Amino acid sequence: MTESVKNGALYGVGVGPGDPELMTLKAVRVLEGSAVIAVPKSAGAAPDAASRALSIASKGAELKGKEILRLLLPMTKDAARLKEARQTAASAIAGRLEKGLDVSFITLGDPMLYSTFSYLVPFVRKLLPDAPVRVIPGVTSFSAAAASAIIPLAESGGKVAIIPAAYDIEDLRERIAANDTVVLMKVNRAMDALIGLLCSMGLEKNAVFVSRASWPDEEVVTDIKSLKGASPDYFSTVIIKK
Ligand SMILES: C[S@@+](CC[C@H](N)C(=O)[O-])C[C@H]1O[C@@H](n2cnc3c(N)ncnc32)[C@H](O)[C@@H]1O
Repeated sequence: MTESVKNGALYGVGVGPGDPELMTLKAVRVLEGSAVIAVPKSAGAAPDAASRALSIASKGAELKGKEILRLLLPMTKDAARLKEARQTAASAIAGRLEKGLDVSFITLGDPMLYSTFSYLVPFVRKLLPDAPVRVIPGVTSFSAAAASAIIPLAESGGKVAIIPAAYDIEDLRERIAANDTVVLMKVNRAMDALIGLLCSMGLEKNAVFVSRASWPDEEVVTDIKSLKGASPDYFSTVIIKK
């Protein structure tokens, strides 16, 4: 009679925004206890993000001897391609879990904020409903950006909105008007339009641009107009505080 192997656990592990010292003790423990480190490979808007997450993780935790499982998860709006990629990635993960191996899927910042991890979970659950799934939260990039700029995200009942890329400028105008603080992520491709909008609202002095928060080459720019025509990198966030 063959003995059945208990499924391993799937962890979504947030490795924080960049500085390995911002990894949690739990993230380090879970990574060091996992046989497999799964790394999303995005091959799209952020080809550097996955390798950045792995570089943070390997500075903060001992990953020697572990399998590094690279999962191709393209950034595309093509639903069929997305589904296929997620199914393939999920079955690669499930194959390890079935052997009793724990798999840690690493994410920059926090796994519950704009991360491919949350899309993968239902696919893994479909294949292996009994495998435990756990999430280890991480310091988000906007927390790090607020810390670098020393801008409180909210005070005394203030309303905060977190908005990702592909901004519709008129929609953004309404959201800025309706909130006390607005965090704009994936801002790199929209800087000029954003600067124009902020100037038209008289808010150009209320915005701070933070790139690579907590990295050694972090950049904090309070004169947002000076960024007109610049092409910041993907790891850039703008915080607007009225
Ligand atoms: C896909 S989202 C990742 C969010 C991540 N899961 C988190 O918890 O912050 C990518 C966006 O996060 C922001 N970002 C990531 N790292 C950053 C950093 N170190 N400094 C500033 N912004 C960063 C940028 O706006 C980037 O375009």
